[in-house]
Amino acid sequence: MAHSPLPVLSPTARGPVSGLAPDALPTPLDYAALSRTELEERIRARKSELNAVILGHNYQRVEIQAVSDLLGDSLALSQEAADTDADVIVFCGVHFMAETAKVLSPGKTVLMPDSRAGCPMADFVTGEALRRMKEAHPGAAVVAYVNSTAEVKAEADICCTSSNAVEVVRSIPEDQTILFVPDRNLARYVEEQTGRDNIVAWDGYCYVHDDLVLDELDAARKRYPEARVVIHPEARDDLLAEADEVTSTGGMVRLAQEHDALILGTERGLVDQLRERYPEKTFVPLSGAAVCGNMKLNTLSKLAWCLDHRQHEVVLDEDIRRRAEDALRKMLAISGGWTAPSAEEEELELAGVRPKGCGCA
Ligand code: 13P
Ligand code: SF4
Repeated sequence: MAHSPLPVLSPTARGPVSGLAPDALPTPLDYAALSRTELEERIRARKSELNAVILGHNYQRVEIQAVSDLLGDSLALSQEAADTDADVIVFCGVHFMAETAKVLSPGKTVLMPDSRAGCPMADFVTGEALRRMKEAHPGAAVVAYVNSTAEVKAEADICCTSSNAVEVVRSIPEDQTILFVPDRNLARYVEEQTGRDNIVAWDGYCYVHDDLVLDELDAARKRYPEARVVIHPEARDDLLAEADEVTSTGGMVRLAQEHDALILGTERGLVDQLRERYPEKTFVPLSGAAVCGNMKLNTLSKLAWCLDHRQHEVVLDEDIRRRAEDALRKMLAISGGWTAPSAEEEELELAGVRPKGCGCA
């Protein structure tokens, strides 16, 4: 399992919520000895003391999902991070998601329960490598999938998530070359959906989705012939060609409301969530091996430790943050959830009368 670089997470950094909770235990291991009920009580108490919100990605363990204030896909979570009134955002997901929250809410403290929870796909491309790619393609527009570091987003013209990648690419003039980083599979899917032939894709991928294979899909279909097949666009194109629907994890949650049986080509955490929510329905993982070990680094005991110790805090270089924010807000303006401020609102923001980034569609 690869890890995102650690420097943006500063275990010693102290934000506005520094200081231990009075009854904090020394290490995450001490928290692991507590019962689930004790951990949940602690988490709820600290959350209200800190005015914190817990954001959880759809791939989180079910016990983390149970204490999350918002569970969602990358787009929903970034919209929430941009709009929340909380002072502290605790991100149960991977590194790039917590960074995105910090980029969009610089005045808030953003914490992660485990600083090693990185996304190997995001690590495929660095800011330096992307700058070289841009030099080789002058005039091209850069689209950065949100599964990328803040440094990479800072080099991009616009970001996208799996739920709005097609829409984002359609917003770019047809004759302009697009550099799409870091997911080659999502790039190919977008190319196919938009009919473009000018997308230059980085050669990155998600090990969880890239490993899904047709044999497994055939076996699942034989066992559950009535189930609709829904696959995440990070999977390979031969698999996507067989899907009834291609959509983000948030899209899968919506489809689960409408259908009684689904074969899900994505990480297992989502299947666990849907089975808990709809025990009478049939939700089948396309592959039982589709587990993102990075997402699973977050546990309930580390979450309790994180709130008690106010760690690990995400800290970003301000120049990188600002440039990454531009690319993210352009995306949010296209997808809803945030609208660019009018000239009058911008003046109020500059004067500190209106909070920056409070616009919502
Ligand atoms: P979603 O935006 O669809 O939740 O995907 C995030 C992710 O990391 C998929 O692997
Ligand atoms: Fe990254 Fe894949 Fe894990 Fe999503 S599932 S966080 S893309 S490694």
